Amino acid sequence: MERNLALELVRVTEAAALSCGRWVGKGDKIAADNAATEAMRRALDSMDISGTVVIGEGEMDKAPMLYIGEKLGRGKGPKVDIAVDPLEGTNSCSKGLSGSIATIALAPKGGFLHAPDMYMEKIAVGPAAKGIIDINASPTENLQRIADAKNCYVEDLTAVILDRPRHDKIVAEIRKAGARIHLITDGDVAPAIAAAVEGSGVDLLLGIGGAPEGVLAAAALKCMGGDMQCRLVFMNNEERDRAQSMGIDNFEKVYECDEMANGDVVFAATGVTNGDLLRGARYYSGGAETHSIVMRSKTRTIRFIEARHTFDFKPTY
Ligand code: FBP
Repeated sequence: MERNLALELVRVTEAAALSCGRWVGKGDKIAADNAATEAMRRALDSMDISGTVVIGEGEMDKAPMLYIGEKLGRGKGPKVDIAVDPLEGTNSCSKGLSGSIATIALAPKGGFLHAPDMYMEKIAVGPAAKGIIDINASPTENLQRIADAKNCYVEDLTAVILDRPRHDKIVAEIRKAGARIHLITDGDVAPAIAAAVEGSGVDLLLGIGGAPEGVLAAAALKCMGGDMQCRLVFMNNEERDRAQSMGIDNFEKVYECDEMANGDVVFAATGVTNGDLLRGARYYSGGAETHSIVMRSKTRTIRFIEARHTFDFKPTY
């Protein structure tokens, strides 16, 4: 993957974050998502890539833009698969709550798991705990292994979990084990990445969230040397049929990070609202400030980028 693509990619997430950032707290998650999607699509179409969306806003008949199978880019340059979530955490954005981001990843053709839009069980950690997590083990066992790997007490660890009734049991178990918990309202991609950022205060992400979001998190963790294991969660037979039609036969399969995001992967995300990983977009007279992360698996260079955008000279937002 060409080096400059990574920096091009951060322009894409900045554009999306600045567009939906105008909708923060306005109670309209559809308008916010549309704003991010339109901006992201415009920015992607100006890139020298021959891209195909494999993780996107949905099927062609349900999503007007960034639908699965949509071709993007100028049609010259590398052939890439694209995983996007123009606004990850639509509720958080519309309510002005923390943790929403605009995010995208590129991989060589066939590099991403074509994850159906359903739930996925996830455990994600940073490089210090690589190779020791086991999605089949209990949360207590995983916490002890992570604490041993990080040379700390279980009590020093912080687990991020979506605040949902389906997680009541693991929350109770983690509390009993003694670890700290950060319950989040939405957006489990950013905390999975934060688990791989030294000093973020996050040690692991645990629980059930969206499968497409799992692929994006895996793409980021691949660039950071982190680790993740996931397993699809089927709610009914219709979901099993859908998965099968996408080539998934083993419903119990545990996906490792490399099986969800493989090859030379590039990842970028920009904060929409403040979170554990990134600050949200901030507006002021004549412009705005964004905070982004961009990285490549080939070099594992992780860049945090603070940008100041002057609207008189870039009036697209
Ligand atoms: P959206 O941005 O599509 O609203 O997804 C937000 C999110 O919180 C994801 O980060 C997470 O994986 C999933 O939804 C959890 O789903 P649910 O809200 O149904 O528990």
